[in-house]
Amino acid sequence: MNLSCVNDGWKFMHGDGAGWASPEYDDGAWRELALPHDWGTEFPVSAGAPSGSGGGYATTGVGWYRKIIALPALPPGGGAYLRFDGVFMDSSVYVDGKLSGGRVYGYSEFTVDLSDFGAGEHLVAVRVDNSLQPNSRWYTGSGIYRSVWLAAAGSAGICHNGVFVMTNALYESKSKARLLIKVRLFNKSQGPADLGVTHKLADISGSIVAESASAARVPAGGEGVSAVLPTIEKPRLWSDKDPYLYTLTTEVYRNGEIIDTQITRVGIRTADFDCDRGFLLNGERVKIKGVCVHHDCGLAGAADYKEIWQRRLSLLKEMGCNGIRCAHNPPSRGFLDLCDELGFLVMDEAFDEWELTKIKSREYGYSSNFAYGYGQHFESNAEEDLVTMLRRDRNHPSVVLWSIGNEIPEQASADGARTLLRLQEICHREDPSRLVCSACDNIASPEAFRTREEFERALDVVGYNYTARWGMRAETLYDEDRKKYPERRMLGAENPSAGGLRGSYGKPEDGPGFRYGYDTATHNHEFLWRYTASRDFVAGDYLWTGIDYLGEAGWPSRGALSGAIDTAGFPKDTFYYFKSIWNVNATTLHILPHWNWKGREGEFISVIGYTNCESVSLYINGRPVGAKGYDFPNVGALGAWNIRAKDTRPTTHDLHLQWDVPYEPGELKAVGYIGGKIAAEKTVRTTGAPAALRAEADVKTIKSGGIAQIEICAVDGEGLIVPDADTEVTATVEGAAALLGMDSGNPFDLAPFYSPARRLFSGKLLCAVRGSGKGPARVRLNAAGMDEIALEFEITE
Ligand code: GAL
Repeated sequence: MNLSCVNDGWKFMHGDGAGWASPEYDDGAWRELALPHDWGTEFPVSAGAPSGSGGGYATTGVGWYRKIIALPALPPGGGAYLRFDGVFMDSSVYVDGKLSGGRVYGYSEFTVDLSDFGAGEHLVAVRVDNSLQPNSRWYTGSGIYRSVWLAAAGSAGICHNGVFVMTNALYESKSKARLLIKVRLFNKSQGPADLGVTHKLADISGSIVAESASAARVPAGGEGVSAVLPTIEKPRLWSDKDPYLYTLTTEVYRNGEIIDTQITRVGIRTADFDCDRGFLLNGERVKIKGVCVHHDCGLAGAADYKEIWQRRLSLLKEMGCNGIRCAHNPPSRGFLDLCDELGFLVMDEAFDEWELTKIKSREYGYSSNFAYGYGQHFESNAEEDLVTMLRRDRNHPSVVLWSIGNEIPEQASADGARTLLRLQEICHREDPSRLVCSACDNIASPEAFRTREEFERALDVVGYNYTARWGMRAETLYDEDRKKYPERRMLGAENPSAGGLRGSYGKPEDGPGFRYGYDTATHNHEFLWRYTASRDFVAGDYLWTGIDYLGEAGWPSRGALSGAIDTAGFPKDTFYYFKSIWNVNATTLHILPHWNWKGREGEFISVIGYTNCESVSLYINGRPVGAKGYDFPNVGALGAWNIRAKDTRPTTHDLHLQWDVPYEPGELKAVGYIGGKIAAEKTVRTTGAPAALRAEADVKTIKSGGIAQIEICAVDGEGLIVPDADTEVTATVEGAAALLGMDSGNPFDLAPFYSPARRLFSGKLLCAVRGSGKGPARVRLNAAGMDEIALEFEITE
């Protein structure tokens, strides 16, 4: 199947009108734009928006898109299709005015068959209806927010998402891998088709490491399957540490001619969950150090930009995170490609609701009239949506577990287990190689709405959400359940991360906004991590969340602050806490807060250190404050009673360090030691007022349709970065690019993302520009009383 991207040249109008699907309709007044597009970010947020707190107070409603698509002449029996990667939500696709397809669930990809429309130009009009609100507990975005593709096919070939590579057989101490490659084939020609199918697996250098071939006779108008079992000698296995990818080229022959080709990336690995040993990757124990993420891209809303995810996921990797739970819906294809490339262990999730609905927005409370969630469509659509996810995503080595639901209320209802089994069976049927989980939040709740035992028993892997939410049993629940259900595979599917507002250093005594002070932000996770890390039978954890997200807000905020990274992709301090305990390959030494506390001279300020050094000495203006250290896991004895492997002399059982230092301006310096030698140094200085802007772009060349991300900060007269700067910056974009948006990561700054003027928050701001066309582009950044900064880009086609 030949795919070409058709993201450019769409016309858009927010609203609804009779005749908008018609080729005769004059759309001259509509705006031209390129996909991916989310109209939710094109209007200011408002407290009264029907999407409410859940939806981040975004504008929703109905919108239309129109585009002329040129179809090639097709051979007899040939086909042409449009593939929509995601339209939120309830789309109806009209071709030349005729309703030809669409999809209710906004996270499912779908295709529209254009084969009968003939060669030439056709008007495609898409009506998107996101008007029934509130319909989500998080920000969904509205519109065609993922890419659209035009596909041309011959009269026979590979079905849509028809190649399935299973890699779950390793032999002889992993020196051999056996793949099972199945291909679903179609035949739309008059008679039966005798098809040959060949596969070539190439390593990264392009050398072929395995070849195999098979044949299938596919009946006229029907489908067939070809299957082969090639063996790979000395495979280089895919893992979170070495995400090695092979490339499989599948070719279909008819009468000696190639009629279809498909490229599939293959990561050879086994993935299993075990009741005693936790998660096993290639047979070895790997603790899942995971985070949950929603699908929004911050300043781009739901519009799916791979560059934004590349930056965010690379940061998570640096943090030592090795797992992602896609909360609570299938992510984009590009997102999973990145997870394959970077080495994440993904829990791919289908639904947040089955039939029983959940409260969406605190403003609207619960009422069946307002419960416009997936529950309305579950009975009629669930199987199709689930199968779509499974067939699309099952070749990704990163996907190690399917999730059929998040905190599904049916976990406590009489027929919940029956629905669970129905969904789980669909997963097993479509993909016998992976286990299935559902994230349960009521395992330890009071009896009245406790997760039913038969629900838990039915699951391949039981997802424990917030074991501490029902206070009385907290983390010990794992141990209790292990005794009660020794055969149970257990995973922390959702637990608290350590979020908060980046660069904000309040304590609970400073007001209701600071439930956890900056000095206690990591306590929850410290308890949990000690538990999870020291119990092999717990596969790991997916924390809520890795990255802040839009929605699930509370006016006057547009988003939720549970991430270690903010919506603009800037790490918070707690990022370094996770890095210090999770990323064992890097030496981490991070101290906080900043040291600009004019007016608080002489007052004790808590200085926090996140480190994996064995001890850290802190100095204020050159004078020692004290040396501190923690050791976890305990380094233990050396085979002899009471002879310790290392003498680290810990000063605390916490996983962070703390000094209380009387404030004086100047310099805080931390020196970290490992094995008695200096391993890291970190200095925090009192700065002057912002005097100049500084900006750095991640790329100089932008492919048309792609984006550049520019990180902006302010420096004082000596060139020190000012950590509390809130300078307003204006961005002007010239040439073959346009401003996509700006974001400081502060969800209380309600200026629309598209606004060309925005304040730094805690010293930082992100500006994203999108290339369009070809040629040079320039981004000029200005702030009152400061020199202009100009960044040059080259846009390529
Ligand atoms: C969980 C839920 C998430 C999010 C989180 C907020 O129960 O699964 O979607 O709502 O709570 O703390």
